[in-house]
Amino acid sequence: MAPLRVAIVGTGNIARVHARALAAVSETGGAAEAALVAVMDADESQLNSFGAEFGVRDAYRHLADLLSRGKPDLVHLCTPPATHYPLALGCLRAGVSVLIEKPPAISLREFDGLAAAQGRAPQGSATADGPPWFATVFQHRFGSGQRRLKALAADGVLGRPLVALCHTTWFRDQAYFDVPWRGRWDTEGGGPTMGHGIHQMDMLLDVLGEWTEVSAVARTQARSMPTEDVSLAHVTFANGAVASVVNSVLSPREESYLRFDFERATVEVTHLYGYGDDDWRITPAPGCDEVLGAWKRAEHGTRSGHAAQFAAVLSALAAGRRPPVGPAEARRTMSLVAGIYASAFTGAPVTPARVAPGTPFYGQMNGGNPAC
Ligand SMILES: NC(=O)c1ccc[n+]([C@@H]2O[C@H](COP(=O)([O-])OP(=O)(O)OC[C@H]3O[C@@H](n4cnc5c(N)ncnc54)[C@H](O)[C@@H]3O)[C@@H](O)[C@H]2O)c1
Repeated sequence: MAPLRVAIVGTGNIARVHARALAAVSETGGAAEAALVAVMDADESQLNSFGAEFGVRDAYRHLADLLSRGKPDLVHLCTPPATHYPLALGCLRAGVSVLIEKPPAISLREFDGLAAAQGRAPQGSATADGPPWFATVFQHRFGSGQRRLKALAADGVLGRPLVALCHTTWFRDQAYFDVPWRGRWDTEGGGPTMGHGIHQMDMLLDVLGEWTEVSAVARTQARSMPTEDVSLAHVTFANGAVASVVNSVLSPREESYLRFDFERATVEVTHLYGYGDDDWRITPAPGCDEVLGAWKRAEHGTRSGHAAQFAAVLSALAAGRRPPVGPAEARRTMSLVAGIYASAFTGAPVTPARVAPGTPFYGQMNGGNPAC
């Protein structure tokens, strides 16, 4: 089978991680191979340095040229968040599937626009669940630790989920936010809730499912920027679990920490930007030592990261299946982000109805309030 033709749009920092991860996936000779055949960036110097570094000669300044002349099967979208919607829509309308860096869009309204544009051939005929697809990069779903936890939770081995902690306590100095698109509602769609903690919240939701209510606080404590630099939230889930969430870029000792207390065990992971098996711990409840055996027997060996997600995406595409993480899964995470902002800026607990179509926080993550 010919390798899948992949193009990268936006050749900055994360694009380099994509290029290396794509090469690593192809080298392992898994279910699918991919070749990075073309790149596109609005900035010529970025394009030139990336092209030289990764040996990609087919380079474009405009998306339409990339799509018509580069003929990719899949576009990896690695541009700043506010550009995701128009560029991804351009790909989908041309019949090309797109894998979008987080956050996939800067509002739920834009997100739903992308979901509606999937499965339509360029002529406009819709298919029930066919290509072109869009998927979101949430790479921490794909390490074996998270998959093991998810499988044991789904199989009922761990019992009922009761309490969870989800902490993204990272550090970003002022210079980081002086990059023009960061920390602004109109270009990034939020601060650390949208840009950083979204990874850990996605892991939380991947295990606990639908959220039903959130109470939150968001503040700008120390950085000079329009968005929050810290948010705190209490989240209730449809399965009855409750979670405490912290999203901070003010924390000198950086850590990503998730803790799930089930009836039969506590499962924890402590990492920063990616975890391996050794970063996970399981502690059985008294009399529940059998969970240790189940934990040991379940999947092991894969670090979380872009390569792990790309392997899953490419093998799904090679088999003609929808690639992970699809719109339904990514939307749940985006809606919790919107819910946190809606609660923080209205000063009241909110349910998903508060961020439904037609509401202010559906249209913009700050609810359209310039004072936020
Ligand atoms: N998954 C992760 O762990 C992770 C980590 C870092 C960043 N990201 C995400 O990746 C995305 C990019 O972040 P980055 O740090 O690489 O940004 P960056 O600023 O380093 O690179 C962005 C690139 O996009 C180009 N660009 C901007 N607008 C464009 C347009 N309209 N058309 C074509 N090119 C355009 C810029 O010239 C630049 O080269 C963001 O959404 C960010 O949140 C994800």
